[in-house]
Amino acid sequence: MSAFPKQNRRGFLQGVAAAGTAVTLGSSANRAFGLQSPNDRPVFATIGLRNQGWTITEKSIKFADFAALADVDANVLGANVEKTEKAQKKKPDAYKDYRNILDRKDIDAVMIATPDHWHTKIAVEAMYAGKDVYCEKPMTLTIDEGKLIEKVVKETGRVFQVGTMQRTECDERFLLAIALIKHGRIGTVQKVTCGINRMESSPVIPVVPVPAELDWDLWLGPAPKVDYRALPEMREGYGGGVPLFSNGHYSFRNWHEYSGGKMADWGAHHVDIASWALGASDTGPSKVTPVEFKLPVEYKDGNPVLHDQYNVATTFNIKVDMPNNVELFITSEGDNGILFEGTDGRFFVNRGKIAGKPVEDLKEKPLPEGAIEEIYGGKVSENHTANFIEGMKSRKQPISDVWSHNRMLEICHLSNIAMRLNRALNWDPVKREIIGDAQANTFLARESRKGYEINM
Ligand SMILES: NC(=O)c1ccc[n+]([C@@H]2O[C@H](COP(=O)([O-])OP(=O)(O)OC[C@H]3O[C@@H](n4cnc5c(N)ncnc54)[C@H](O)[C@@H]3O)[C@@H](O)[C@H]2O)c1
Repeated sequence: MSAFPKQNRRGFLQGVAAAGTAVTLGSSANRAFGLQSPNDRPVFATIGLRNQGWTITEKSIKFADFAALADVDANVLGANVEKTEKAQKKKPDAYKDYRNILDRKDIDAVMIATPDHWHTKIAVEAMYAGKDVYCEKPMTLTIDEGKLIEKVVKETGRVFQVGTMQRTECDERFLLAIALIKHGRIGTVQKVTCGINRMESSPVIPVVPVPAELDWDLWLGPAPKVDYRALPEMREGYGGGVPLFSNGHYSFRNWHEYSGGKMADWGAHHVDIASWALGASDTGPSKVTPVEFKLPVEYKDGNPVLHDQYNVATTFNIKVDMPNNVELFITSEGDNGILFEGTDGRFFVNRGKIAGKPVEDLKEKPLPEGAIEEIYGGKVSENHTANFIEGMKSRKQPISDVWSHNRMLEICHLSNIAMRLNRALNWDPVKREIIGDAQANTFLARESRKGYEINM
């Protein structure tokens, strides 16, 4: 009996509706589930390798065998096949088209680290192909994509981990923060500020020939068909080795066509922790107000009028009315991290530190034994992949489940819609709809480009 049981498909097509996302029912609906892994090490494949894809592959090799990799950039693919072979002493198969991975019966799970506009399509198709899924954050491009993923997780019974690894890693600092809140160490929480840094604007970025190694049409996938743009200057440091200004590798973060800008990129981390700490993982805000923000190009009816330069908000301060009268601010100003303020004190946490009087007071008055484990729901896993694999074995959803992720990502997506339309939005967290604003509700979904609808 395999450690990674496959789910039967009974009823998984029942009620499949696309929640606003274009969907077709294709031949894969009849595809058999994959075979079961012969040993305790699951068989993985990674889709999208350049930056984060390699990071999660490398840190997962200790726990899983990588049978295949896929990337639409031949150079990225070749380099990562080499690195993976070196690290695990076995060469993975290489594909340009991720569907070759989904067709394989020997693969238990896929890790998805493509740009955001591809996440939902690949994740949904992977689940219907019988794979468990580790998908990078932010999981979706739209709120309705999140609803679709929830539906498919339920229908297929697949295990799904979102890549918000602050929940497991970072020396348990964020878990300690949540435990401090739960144990009343700042009294009643009144205000939470998530500092997630600003985005840069760009000069005009010209259309240039697509690099020979890149399948640009496949990179665009469900996004609108546009020309490839880049300037010669190269990005250095984190994510480097590609043009600093482009509409492709790494810089996809600067375009609403492929991402939710900084708001979703870093919001997916810090708003996630804030929402967990506030006990709001199954609810949401009542109102999202763009207090101050700057979009780098003119917008009309919520859409940028220029298409040759970056278009996501560069600076912002968003006020979010959370349950229990808590004010949540998401801002590009100040330090990256989360400041929790309550009736009895405040503290700050980020990936490098946790500081403030309630933290200092722990020396005199520690939290009760097992406080962290209680937050995490058991012993904290060795890393976020280990937690995913524990879920694959137990068939329980991992620590970054799609439901809690969607709830907090709704805040980020709503913040972007509010800035695009330049107005406050009232949100119904039960119906998961914007109240009394038909135009804003059209931004809950996006149409996929013809030929790239989600294949179910
Ligand atoms: N958890 C974290 O802390 C963290 C950190 C960085 C990035 N991320 C997330 O990881 C994702 C990727 O970010 P990145 O910085 O690695 O981007 P990147 O642009 O550097 O790399 C993305 C890779 O995906 C490939 N790709 C695009 N479409 C594909 C497809 N259909 N099939 C296969 N490959 C495809 C690209 O060719 C590229 O190699 C984003 O969603 C990002 O938010 C998460």
